Order: sequence, then C-alpha cells, then structure tokens
Amino acid sequence: MKNIGSYPNTRLRRNRKKEWSRRLVQENTLSPNDLIWPIFVCEGKNIKERIKTMPGVYRHSVDRLEKLIENALNKKIPMIALFPNTPSSKKDAKGSEALNKNNIICKALRLIKKNYKEIGIMCDVALDPYTNHGHDGIIKDNYVDNDKTVKILIKQSLLQAEMGCDVIAPSDMMDGRIGEIRKALDKNGHELVQILSYAVKYASNFYGPFRDAVGSKKKLKGDKKNYQMDFNNSKEALREVALDIKEGADFVMVKPGMPYLDIIKLIKDNFKIPVFAYQVSGEYSLIRNGINNKTINEDAILESLISFKRAGANAIITYFAEEIARKLR
Ligand code: PBG
Repeated sequence: MKNIGSYPNTRLRRNRKKEWSRRLVQENTLSPNDLIWPIFVCEGKNIKERIKTMPGVYRHSVDRLEKLIENALNKKIPMIALFPNTPSSKKDAKGSEALNKNNIICKALRLIKKNYKEIGIMCDVALDPYTNHGHDGIIKDNYVDNDKTVKILIKQSLLQAEMGCDVIAPSDMMDGRIGEIRKALDKNGHELVQILSYAVKYASNFYGPFRDAVGSKKKLKGDKKNYQMDFNNSKEALREVALDIKEGADFVMVKPGMPYLDIIKLIKDNFKIPVFAYQVSGEYSLIRNGINNKTINEDAILESLISFKRAGANAIITYFAEEIARKLR
C-alpha cells in the first residue's frame, strides 16, 4: 500500500473523533436485508418449546408459524429457513419421513405459502432430521452411500418445491447432488426454484445445539467426517464451489461462520456468485451465554454479524436475525 502518509501529518484518529465523521467513513453496514432467520418446527398444537442448549430459541408447532412470519415481514427479513424436529417414532434408517407429504416441513410450507407470498422460504435438503442414526444420508457398509442418497435427496427436493419452497438448500455434502437436483427441478416445471448449496460445509464441532434442536444429537453414531469438509483445509473449498456453480447453484453457503471468515473472503475473491454465511448454533449459544451471564455486551451480536459483511458475505443465516432486525429499525 502506497501513499499512506506518516505521523504527525497523518492522524487516523481525526476521522474517528466525532460520531458523524465515523458514520461518513463507515465501510460496512448491516441491514435486515442481510438476514435469514432459521425456525425450528415441531408437531403438536400451540407449542413453544425451549431448546436447552440454545437459550432464547424455541421449537414452534406449525399453527404458531403465521405469527412468526408476520413478525419477520414487519422487520423486513427477506427469508426464513425451516428445520423440523421429527418425533423419534417417525425416524428410520432411510429417513422415509423426509418423503412424506404430510411431514412437518410440508405442512409448514403449505400453510405459509397459502397466505404469504412475499417472504422467501428455504428448506434444508438432507436426511439427518429423519434418520434413526442421525446421518445425512443412507448407510451401506458403515459408509454414507453417495449415489443412493442423492436419489432420495432429489425426491425430497421435488416434494419441497411442490409444497411451495422457494429455495432448496442441500446441506448434505453428497457429491453431484446440485446438478442432479437442478435437472430434476427443471424437468418438473420448477426451473425458477432457487438452489442454495451448502457448498462449503465443514465437519464442525459447532453444530451440537442444532442437533439437539432437531433431535439428532443422541442418535448420531460417529461423526460426519467422510462427507463434510476437513477443517484443516481451505483450497478444497474452491473446488467445492466451482463444481456447484457448474452444476447450477444460485448461491453458495459457507458454514460455520465466524471461524471461517477466511473461507468467505477466499470464495468472494475467486467467484462472482452470492455467498451466504451460516452463523451456526454453537456460535449462537456461545454468544448468547456470554451475554446472559454478562461476560460480554449485547452489542457483540452486531459486531459478530458485521464480521461477515467485512469478509464479503451477501447474507447471513443467524438465530439472532429477529432480534437484530428489531434493533436495526
Ligand atoms: C443438517 C444440518 C446441520 C446444520 C444445518 N443443517 C447439522 C449437521 O450437519 O450436523 C447445522 C446448523 C447449526 O448448527 O446451526 N444437515
């Protein structure tokens, strides 16, 4: 970098002296347009259920969703993400419940799309909320079978699209699924349904509270390292993204969030596709617990979210979405 001047001619604190001046030179801002709000949905009526490891986040029964959608619309949040808590009794080795057109997600999609057209809804495509072993696909010889799993994911995607899902978000990390899902959507008249690929999803230790929320934590046997990415790697992320762009992804996700800001930047520097960041459940709970026991200040939420904007993310999936959108108004 040239022409940066030197002290005492140059005093960087001058621009920081007054609040109006700090506002003038601000490089990044956060707006409700940047936020995606994840919502956990459960069976039953009028249920708002605490999730122990995620203070302040709840599972809601389908009949309560309209209230939440109104809330999101009022706060100008462009999209919500739905995640199911499937009762244990409906889980099996193949995740069959994922293809049931009366599962929680399908019910939620039908209800929301009947009355609300002006909010985006994204749904995960993966089998882990539905399998009795907690893995994202089906298991053959102790290994998550790629191609057999993709066949089921295609059906899951088509079902969600039929129910009105706007953005199909495969979070399973199987090879080749974006292209296969794109092809099937197009063939069935869903050529305008978008695909948000969880292209760069690491085998992370920060997903624990989410697995509690969808009820897969106690069921999960082993880890997900033979399909999710190794967190020692970064260049591999470029290959994942390049493939998914070629296969037809409309946006790509990096997940988790804060420990992977370098990856967001790397992708933004190499591709023109919109990149979303997922501030995952473990990150949420750490910050929330810190605020609750007064170790850190509430403004840490905004600070954490702005870091994604600096890194180049176009939008952020965060459990703080509703709360921070309220503050931004
Ligand atoms: C399911 C899925 C996971 C998350 C989103 N979709 C968990 C996992 O892969 O084990 C994690 C989100 C979070 O921790 O907030 N495939």
